[in-house]
Amino acid sequence: MQAPDTIIQPIVETNLRQLYIESYGCAMNFSDSEIIGSIMAEHGFEFTNDEFNADVIFLNTCAIRDNAEQKIRDRLKHLRGNKKQNKDLIIGVLGCMAERLKSKLLEEEKLVDIVAGPDAYRDLPKLVAQVEDGNKAINVLLSREETYAEISPLRLNTNGVSAFVSIMRGCDNMCSFCVVPFTRGRERSRDAESIVNEVKILSDSGYKEVILLGQNVDSYLWFGGGPKVEFKNAEESVKQNAVTFDKLLEMVALVNPEMRIRFSTSHPKDISEEVLQVMKKYDNICKHIHLPAQSGSTRILEAMNRTYTREWYMAKHARIKELMPECSISCDIISGFCTETEQDHQDTLSLMEACQFEFSYMYKYSERPGTLAAKKMTDDVPEEVKGSRLTEIIHLQSKMSLANNKSYIGKTVRVLADSVSKKSENDLAGRNDQNSKVVFPKGQYKIGDFVNVLIERVTTTSLIGIVVP
Ligand code: 5AD
Ligand code: SF4
Repeated sequence: MQAPDTIIQPIVETNLRQLYIESYGCAMNFSDSEIIGSIMAEHGFEFTNDEFNADVIFLNTCAIRDNAEQKIRDRLKHLRGNKKQNKDLIIGVLGCMAERLKSKLLEEEKLVDIVAGPDAYRDLPKLVAQVEDGNKAINVLLSREETYAEISPLRLNTNGVSAFVSIMRGCDNMCSFCVVPFTRGRERSRDAESIVNEVKILSDSGYKEVILLGQNVDSYLWFGGGPKVEFKNAEESVKQNAVTFDKLLEMVALVNPEMRIRFSTSHPKDISEEVLQVMKKYDNICKHIHLPAQSGSTRILEAMNRTYTREWYMAKHARIKELMPECSISCDIISGFCTETEQDHQDTLSLMEACQFEFSYMYKYSERPGTLAAKKMTDDVPEEVKGSRLTEIIHLQSKMSLANNKSYIGKTVRVLADSVSKKSENDLAGRNDQNSKVVFPKGQYKIGDFVNVLIERVTTTSLIGIVVP
């Protein structure tokens, strides 16, 4: 198997074509853009940060909510203007919105030259060639196998400290509000050996943190690498032969005990006791779990097809805190899903309050064509009600985040510096184990350093302090 190589080689040829990529949406898209980068670099392209210097522009897109798509549509209309200066400019729309709309952006709206879905990236050089031959180009076929396993991502805009590693693709969960199973296809896991190899290369290249990515990392399952053992009991056979997420996590944690390991996203129904035990066992696995609840009402959870109840979620949350009291848990919440009543909304607020989430991503429900909810339910909560409920949810989360941050005052946290602070060039920013953002005076420290920071003051979003020995 070809070994992944994550080092960006300086490109010296002069006749390379210029590729500009913009990524939208989730971390998975940013990770995919690095795979796209690698594929295109193999075919005579190099990266530019200047859209006006580009021969090819790709927008790697998100379709999860309508406003995400509107933003991208506006950007595409704007980019079309660049063709006035460069009539040979090729514009491609990739990712989830491409998959959802298929030929619409190409034929009806005439906004782009290329449409490529998430499983069609190996085809991109060919699609570019088709456009150069005067044709429009589209590939939106979804695959049951594609994981881009052996492609070594070209690290784009990297800080050289933290890297995404994709471990699985697609989702089989069919939450009724979600378009992802339709845009990213069936769930499939990447070869465990290729994941571990990629992490080794990152470690050897000086990276200090990897973030294992998948729509539903806890259902990671890989068979391979060694003889299969036959057991009488089918379940036992699967267990003994397969690399499940807990095993993968352990393999990755063992690559370099100094390297921080994070992962996202976890479905509450799939995160197992074994995964929690592995997290507890290894100091270098960060104590943070992103565990979307979506709602605190059992009735709404059922309508969402989340397959757990309010009580079940809270028990899982309590078990994590029991095993690892220091573990932070963040959440996703949707306000105003179909049929949501004021009581359901109050149940969401009370679940949040009971769990005291350290952080949440919060959204208004946005109906997505083709989803189970769009087909079978009515988007019947008025926009203003969705909005006012969302405001209450955000307000509660801000209060809880501030209280949680205040509990750090006077304590020392270990931070991996990953950027210069947005507010001041004299400060560095990083994250602690629990994924809280920490800001501190730069002094003699640099990006990539682990430092101990004594927290002196906080805001809703950051911990601020000074470096101590
Ligand atoms: N409307 C609003 N939010 C959504 N999400 C997914 N689909 C929708 C939708 N149709 C949110 C969920 C998910 C996160 C990635 O986006 O909270 O966990
Ligand atoms: Fe969407 Fe649910 Fe899959 Fe997450 S688990 S990607 S919300 S279908």
